[in-house]
Amino acid sequence: MRRLKVVVIGAGGTIGRAVVAELGKRHEVIAVSRHGTQLLRVDLDVPAAIDALFDAVPDIDAVVSTAASVPLAPFGTLSDEGLAQALHAKLFGQIALLQRAATRLREGGSVTLTGGRFDGVLPGGSAGALANAGLEAFVAQAAPELPRGLRVNVVAPGWVQETLDALGLQGPRGTPVHEVARLYVAAVEGAMSGQALRIIT
Ligand SMILES: NC(=O)c1ccc[n+]([C@@H]2O[C@H](COP(=O)([O-])OP(=O)(O)OC[C@H]3O[C@@H](n4cnc5c(N)ncnc54)[C@H](OP(=O)(O)O)[C@@H]3O)[C@@H](O)[C@H]2O)c1
Repeated sequence: MRRLKVVVIGAGGTIGRAVVAELGKRHEVIAVSRHGTQLLRVDLDVPAAIDALFDAVPDIDAVVSTAASVPLAPFGTLSDEGLAQALHAKLFGQIALLQRAATRLREGGSVTLTGGRFDGVLPGGSAGALANAGLEAFVAQAAPELPRGLRVNVVAPGWVQETLDALGLQGPRGTPVHEVARLYVAAVEGAMSGQALRIIT
């Protein structure tokens, strides 16, 4: 397939690093993070920063976001403002990214966002579940409305093995991050739209 110009936001994170490595085998990848050593930075909490990113990088074929997560917090411990803030970058920031990409990507381009899905109950995971379910629902409904043959999908990882290792958590093994990264490659190179992509274990 044609060599694509792909922007990866969250490139300094566990999943982002693996996605940059996988996509970089066949495509031009522009790594973007909030902090760190990347030349380009963006904070998904700041819509003007997303606009500035698209101004700085013309002719993008695909945008991948592996950025932002919702912190674990037991039900009832977040204030109204705290809940809105916890959800903001992952849910509204990624949707703001999609909205801007819809007018800025090349025809036939794609957007791949990141949600998450965990088997069973994840203690402290209610706010994260809200963001993840919201992203999947939004993507399914928005996909058919995208102009110019654009596509959008959301990757919904379960636990990543390297994350569990870093947290020192014992128990069931997660999915190796390079396998998760392949879902993003499938979303970028494939023809699907409106889908939630996950590894069934
Ligand atoms: N790892 C897992 O087991 C797992 C499982 C299910 C779902 N997920 C989801 O997958 C996504 C990535 O996870 P990960 O493990 O790779 O996380 P990570 O290692 O913590 O990396 C997250 C990345 O997002 C960036 N970021 C955070 N807030 C941002 C913002 N407001 N604007 C722009 N960039 C921002 C961080 O940049 P800075 O470091 O520069 O702030 C970092 O590069 C998250 O949405 C997470 O919920 C992960």
